[in-house]
Amino acid sequence: MVDSLRVFSGSAHPDLARSICSYLRVDPGEAEVDRFPDGEITVKINENVRGCDIFIVQPTGAPAESLLELLIMMDAAKRASAQRVTAVIPYFGYARQDRKDQPRVPISAKLVANLIAEAGADRVLTMDLHSSQIQGFFDIPLDHLFAAPVLIEYFHRKEIPNLTVVAPDVGSLKMARAYAKRLGASLALVDKRRTRADDTEVMNLIGEVQDRNIVIFDDVISTGRTIAKAAVALKERGATSIRVGVTHAVFAPQTEAVLGAAPIEEVVVTDSVPPRPVDLGHKLQTLSVSRLLGEAIRRIHEERSLSSLFV
Ligand code: R5P
Repeated sequence: MVDSLRVFSGSAHPDLARSICSYLRVDPGEAEVDRFPDGEITVKINENVRGCDIFIVQPTGAPAESLLELLIMMDAAKRASAQRVTAVIPYFGYARQDRKDQPRVPISAKLVANLIAEAGADRVLTMDLHSSQIQGFFDIPLDHLFAAPVLIEYFHRKEIPNLTVVAPDVGSLKMARAYAKRLGASLALVDKRRTRADDTEVMNLIGEVQDRNIVIFDDVISTGRTIAKAAVALKERGATSIRVGVTHAVFAPQTEAVLGAAPIEEVVVTDSVPPRPVDLGHKLQTLSVSRLLGEAIRRIHEERSLSSLFV
């Protein structure tokens, strides 16, 4: 085991890093992450990290500066002789282009994985990747957590009767099945077709939803249209109530209007990304994944198994 555990944060989500540190009962690592007068990023680690086990917390969604900050911080840590550097990426951004399914498109997820490894990460800790296969884009160890224990605990406590879990598209079916099993709920599926990068259409609804209380689970909400359209289709087919559980709330500017107008009682998200200026009033609940990430960091540091964090 590497002796000294230190947790640093980029500027993307310092509140989450602070909560992780408080769970771990360690002081936040001292580093300056700033800008040169012309806007370029400047980083300085203000403590001795020689031989330390360093964890750098930084979601890598937009703005792209977040990713660059993470890369530069890892470079600083490696050059300061840290023994091991783990990139803690609560939300792995640039994951949606993860295969070449059209001519002349990038595989951004692979590019980002290469950059992270090249910048000096010895390992990666992340959560609810857009697709699990992204793990294979890394040739360094990667621990892939799920926010499921946090979301499931919340919905369990609500004791919702006649519960049906809905997968909003085929890609999220496996995840939804796991949620349904854990919540003792039945399962339904929305057959969604993406009409544009920012819009979708509901083609079919598979499963019984009449007079059922619904929870739709997804990995990410961006515009909110996937969820909103699924909610409308579910209501039209007689669902009693609709709630949503999502890990990454990477809300776009239009999310407020889209979700605000949808027939949804509650949108439950985690703090994997910092709160966006989107006002959903009483509809929005944010749960913290800091304990989950903190416990994973502790176990990685102590070279212990992470398996129990998946149940
Ligand atoms: C799609 O594959 C994802 O799981 C989400 O359903 C999608 O990215 C959500 O995007 P939006 O909120 O813009 O519909």
